Amino acid sequence: MGTGQQQCWVAKRHGKRTDSRRTAEGHYRTPRRCAMLPWRRPVQVTPDRTRRSPVVDVFSPEPAMPRRSLPLGRVYGLLEPGPVVLLTTSHKGRANVMAMSWHTMMEFEPPLVGCVVSGRDFSFRALETTRECVLNIPTVELAKQVVGCGNTTGERVDKFARFGLTPVPASLVGAPLIDECYANLECRVADTRMKNRYNFFVLEVVAAWVNPTCREPRTIHHRGHGNFAVAGEPFKLTSRMK
Ligand SMILES: Cc1cc2nc3c(=O)[nH]c(=O)nc-3n(C[C@H](O)[C@H](O)[C@H](O)COP(=O)(O)O)c2cc1C
Repeated sequence: MGTGQQQCWVAKRHGKRTDSRRTAEGHYRTPRRCAMLPWRRPVQVTPDRTRRSPVVDVFSPEPAMPRRSLPLGRVYGLLEPGPVVLLTTSHKGRANVMAMSWHTMMEFEPPLVGCVVSGRDFSFRALETTRECVLNIPTVELAKQVVGCGNTTGERVDKFARFGLTPVPASLVGAPLIDECYANLECRVADTRMKNRYNFFVLEVVAAWVNPTCREPRTIHHRGHGNFAVAGEPFKLTSRMK
């Protein structure tokens, strides 16, 4: 075992200086009681080693990176893809806008974007009914308006007026573009099969607009619980990824 925090990252939580699951030879004991905690799930070791994945043999017994357990409720902050977008809809003559960061690319072309829109959001019903929206991508200059749109509901507030955002007509969908955003993606709902279970909509981008003068957009990325980061320094590496 290494020193300090490295030495104890498993054992510390349990008040022990060493990992008592291991024998002097470094093999894992089979725990007598198998608790529900994931770290206590036994690594299967049988004498003939047939049930143990060979890759386990190359696991380092001395992890170098200090680790602490993260509450599951904070996991999303690590994986939130960002950038935070402003999703606009138009329903029954009313345009609305909400902040959204739970989205993911699903296909190159035609571009498909999956996103989670809570059933509690006023936007949900508009998106469900009209099957159209625009994903507007703001930069850091709009951060306060973004959070404002994420903390008020269009049921009671005209957010365009309140936050000084300008709706302009889109080319193919009824929802408006937000003029102040550096990019706007006009979308139609392509798949709702996971809507009831996960509030998950698959959107197809049918038209896309970008401000050509904005070379390095400083987009904002949500890290959870009101913490944000701005897109950092760009760099390039050879990659086979498109
Ligand atoms: C940074 C940020 C990200 C958000 N991401 C999402 C999201 O991905 N999905 C969602 O349903 N709500 C998300 N919200 C919350 C909605 O924006 C919020 O519930 C909003 O009030 C809904 O507006 P509406 O009722 O007018 O539709 C986010 C809020 C913030 C501040």
